[in-house]
Amino acid sequence: MNKIAQIIQPDDFHVHLRDGEYLKHTVQYSSKYGRAVIMPNLKPPITSIKQAWEYKNRILEINPSFGPLMTLYLNPSVKKEELKEIPSLDWLLGIKLYPSGATTHSEEGVKVSELEKFYAYFELMEKYQIPLMVHGEVSDYEIDFFEREKIFIEKYLINIREKFPKLKIILEHVSSKVGVDFVNSYDNTAATVTPQHLHLTRNDLFFGGIQPHHFCLPIVKTAKDQEAIAQEVLKGNPKFFAGTDSAPHPKNKKESCCGPAGVFSAPISIELYIYFFEKHNKMDWSLIEKFLSKYGADFYGLEYNKRKLSIFQEPLYIPQEYPLGKETVVPMWAGKTLNYTTLILD
Ligand code: DOR
Ligand code: ZN
Repeated sequence: MNKIAQIIQPDDFHVHLRDGEYLKHTVQYSSKYGRAVIMPNLKPPITSIKQAWEYKNRILEINPSFGPLMTLYLNPSVKKEELKEIPSLDWLLGIKLYPSGATTHSEEGVKVSELEKFYAYFELMEKYQIPLMVHGEVSDYEIDFFEREKIFIEKYLINIREKFPKLKIILEHVSSKVGVDFVNSYDNTAATVTPQHLHLTRNDLFFGGIQPHHFCLPIVKTAKDQEAIAQEVLKGNPKFFAGTDSAPHPKNKKESCCGPAGVFSAPISIELYIYFFEKHNKMDWSLIEKFLSKYGADFYGLEYNKRKLSIFQEPLYIPQEYPLGKETVVPMWAGKTLNYTTLILD
């Protein structure tokens, strides 16, 4: 194999591993990452330190050398008294805000009409320096589906941002130019960037017939929105770092009527990110390493991973499906071949 580069092992700052019989697969699919921020939208959601601790241990049982960074799901059952304990727990990274109705398992999240009731949490989170990860979308029927992020930012997120200036806010899976501009306008604000929002536009949802495996939330948008995100990554803006939002749903559900949102990319996501730089003629390993392995750690105040990722100029065929419990899951760009393969060797 033709090894062409080696970089610090990457982190995935946003992933869905699910639970139960899926977990033995999903943990392994993410295991080229040193650490991953584990989303709490289970059924029931992870709302206490105890639940997060137990979920973390279920993950570590499958792969003890993986680094799960847990999150809590913000809703009224999160106990305010627990917040002061969080800064001393190096495995619990932050709290996730899901506007109710915005995405998979968000029903028990925060109703946007009641968002101000949660300002007491934000105040404590600012005080204890607990990051707030945000799914930045409204879900009203009247609002154009492609403007959900824009409207959430304008109507709600700017208020939170300006009222709690020292609170670290991460606009998860940034999907629009408005989102990019928001992140760039404020201190203590960053965004995770997914492979699908770098590679796909809304044309990819419909080209050649409806493409359920490209449907995620926030939905992929126009070429202009995609370009805005791409430019920040290509110029090495440290506020934008890798977070796959890999969200497995079984193939039969995704390919049925009213299929759920989620693009599954975990096992091939590092290669998909590398392909993004290749496509833009920016095969600069130092830049790629910053995006995959440094900027996220810097924003959260974490050390870099000790291990290294080796990159080979070897074709990588993306399988048609991967096992998921008793079912299968279709990855992004199933059947396509990429030019680089990565491995953790040391
Ligand atoms: O597409 C998505 N799928 N977006 C989310 O925010 C949630 C995720 C899931 O959990 O399936
Ligand atoms: Zn997600």
